Amino acid sequence: MTRWGRALAALFAVTVVLALSSSARAAEDNPNAVEPCLKCHDDPGIAGVLHTAHMMSADPRTKVAAIGCQNCHGDSSDHATFIARAATGGQGRPSPGRVFKGPHASPVAFMNEACTGCHQGGTALHWQGSQHANADVACASCHSSHVVQDPVLVKTTQAAVCFTCHAERRADALKPSHHPVLEGHMSCSDCHNPHGSDGPTLLRQASVTDTCLSCHDEKRGPFLWEHAPVQENCAICHTPHGSVQASLLKQRPPYLCQDCHDSSTHNSQPFSGANLPGGPVPGRQMVQRACLNCHSAIHGSNHPSGARFAR
Ligand code: HEC
Ligand code: HEC
Ligand code: HEC
Ligand code: HEC
Ligand code: HEC
Ligand code: HEC
Ligand code: HEC
Ligand code: HEC
Ligand code: HEC
Ligand code: HEC
Repeated sequence: MTRWGRALAALFAVTVVLALSSSARAAEDNPNAVEPCLKCHDDPGIAGVLHTAHMMSADPRTKVAAIGCQNCHGDSSDHATFIARAATGGQGRPSPGRVFKGPHASPVAFMNEACTGCHQGGTALHWQGSQHANADVACASCHSSHVVQDPVLVKTTQAAVCFTCHAERRADALKPSHHPVLEGHMSCSDCHNPHGSDGPTLLRQASVTDTCLSCHDEKRGPFLWEHAPVQENCAICHTPHGSVQASLLKQRPPYLCQDCHDSSTHNSQPFSGANLPGGPVPGRQMVQRACLNCHSAIHGSNHPSGARFAR
């Protein structure tokens, strides 16, 4: 390189450095960027958001390149550029446009507008009018936006989020018979859509029974011999969240069965064994599995002689 060439290269380098540092200064003064917020909010609890989908500046949908953290927090320029108490007549630092937590939290509807502004349709299709929306539950009550892995999206940590409000569900989950939610094999959102649904009770399917059959397909039938209540609603005999009885049953047989089968035949004398078809059978009394000792195909039978669900 000639001397002139080296001089030109040096001049160019200086210009680049100057340009970069002035743009850095512009960013500090520009509350639309991310850096000025981080200058004061640099603790890991807040900065975790930088590693989430919402802060990917290369994704135009996040609007980060244009407005930084204000994509969620709304216009926060007064908050970010506040210098001295005197400037606000002794009022102190103005709040950001939107606050999602704590004593200065914005009204729920205003908070949720931030999220639904970008999340329409798809997952939020049934949000309006849903049980959670009607009860003024905020998106941010379930979702944590500042952590790399939002706990409510993870099977093993989701239930704890729900339990903060649905405490009785925690008690159920700890009963001897329960769906393996606390074990991390399934989650509340396998059965429920917390954003809203067409079905009852925020269920993913159109009915309780359809929800159960989405996993327990073998109980669907059609059976040669059907048991009427099974066709009607699984919840007649089962409870979904937890039971002190085996198999998530609401009651223990024979009592469960006797709610409906209370005629004068064998089924109304559960512990005597009297009136059993063919008389008392040693070893087949109404102990332990009670009626199920004989009526074991309780969900229906395809056996030619299974009319009484005995096989
Ligand atoms: C010069 C320092 C500074 C800058 C810059 C700054 N903040 Fe703050 N921010 C604070 C202080 C101080 C608090 C009050 C903390 C407290 O009340 O405990 C705060 C609180 C907040 C809160 C919680 C509000 C509440 O009332 O609970 C949010 C949200 C927030 N800032 C967002 C932002 C955003 C977004 C930006 C960038 C646009 C930003 N901040 C820029 C200093 C700053
Ligand atoms: C400016 C637009 C915008 C706003 C505002 C916004 N989001 Fe998002 N959100 C996105 C984009 C873009 C993605 C990435 C989607 C993708 O990759 O398909 C996303 C992803 C998500 C995800 C999935 C994250 C993951 O790890 O899979 C959740 C949950 C979410 N947003 C919740 C919220 C909540 C709650 C709010 C309000 C506090 C909110 N969002 C506000 C644009 C936004
Ligand atoms: C009652 C708790 C709860 C509330 C309130 C809630 N969510 Fe969710 N959200 C969840 C759960 C649980 C999932 C994971 C769903 C799954 O496993 O299919 C999820 C998933 C998401 C996802 C990513 C995956 C997807 O299904 O697209 C986005 C985006 C999202 N929620 C946005 C929102 C927005 C926006 C709001 C407010 C309008 C909101 N959520 C309110 C619990 C909630
Ligand atoms: C996806 C929307 C979203 C984005 C983007 C976002 N925040 Fe937040 N912010 C929230 C929500 C929701 C909360 C409430 C607490 C939580 O979810 O962790 C919150 C809470 C805060 C708090 C108060 C924390 C407390 O414990 O009271 C501060 C400060 C804050 N955000 C600053 C920022 C800064 C700075 C940025 C940009 C680097 C940013 N936020 C980006 C949604 C967002
Ligand atoms: C911030 C509190 C809060 C959180 C967190 C929360 N819920 Fe709810 N949930 C409510 C309120 C309030 C209602 C409406 C009143 C009611 O039925 O208890 C409701 C209603 C429901 C219903 C409908 C009840 C009905 O009778 O139709 C279901 C199902 C439900 N929540 C499941 C969940 C699941 C699953 C989660 C976790 C992903 C969750 N909730 C997290 C507060 C919450
Ligand atoms: C195996 C499917 C399934 C799972 C998993 C499940 N639920 Fe449910 N949930 C149901 C069904 C079905 C109903 C309706 C019961 C009825 O109508 O008899 C229901 C009802 C509810 C209700 C409203 C009625 C009530 O009893 O208060 C809430 C709240 C609820 N579930 C929360 C949860 C939470 C929180 C979790 C996770 C810990 C969860 N559910 C896991 C199937 C499930
Ligand atoms: C998302 C899949 C899924 C759905 C939906 C579902 N289950 Fe289950 N169910 C399971 C799993 C997984 C197990 C545990 C199986 C195991 O441990 O081998 C289970 C176990 C059971 C058990 C045996 C429990 C025990 O203590 O032995 C019963 C009874 C049951 N489910 C009934 C229902 C009913 C009733 C519904 C509808 C309200 C339902 N299930 C919906 C997945 C599901
Ligand atoms: C008439 C009462 C009744 C109804 C209605 C009923 N069940 Fe059951 N279910 C039982 C009994 C009793 C047991 C225990 C069987 C045993 O111990 O052999 C059981 C056990 C189960 C089991 C665990 C053991 C196994 O056989 O896999 C599952 C899963 C199950 N039921 C699913 C369902 C589903 C799904 C429905 C709705 C389509 C349903 N049940 C409707 C009475 C009923
Ligand atoms: C919600 C009410 C209800 C419950 C609970 C119930 N059943 Fe049934 N069961 C019926 C009905 C209705 C029929 C059909 C009766 C008919 O066709 O005359 C039936 C039919 C039967 C039959 C065949 C009888 C026949 O006349 O064809 C047997 C056996 C039977 N149930 C045993 C049981 C056992 C064992 C249990 C307990 C595990 C039980 N049922 C729980 C309502 C119930
Ligand atoms: C030792 C075996 C055995 C036990 C235990 C048993 N059953 Fe039966 N049950 C039968 C047989 C076999 C038939 C068929 C009789 C026939 O076809 O005439 C029958 C028939 C029935 C019928 C059809 C109508 C009737 O009365 O003949 C019902 C309903 C019934 N059982 C319900 C129950 C209930 C409820 C229990 C528990 C309280 C129970 N059974 C316990 C063997 C048993």
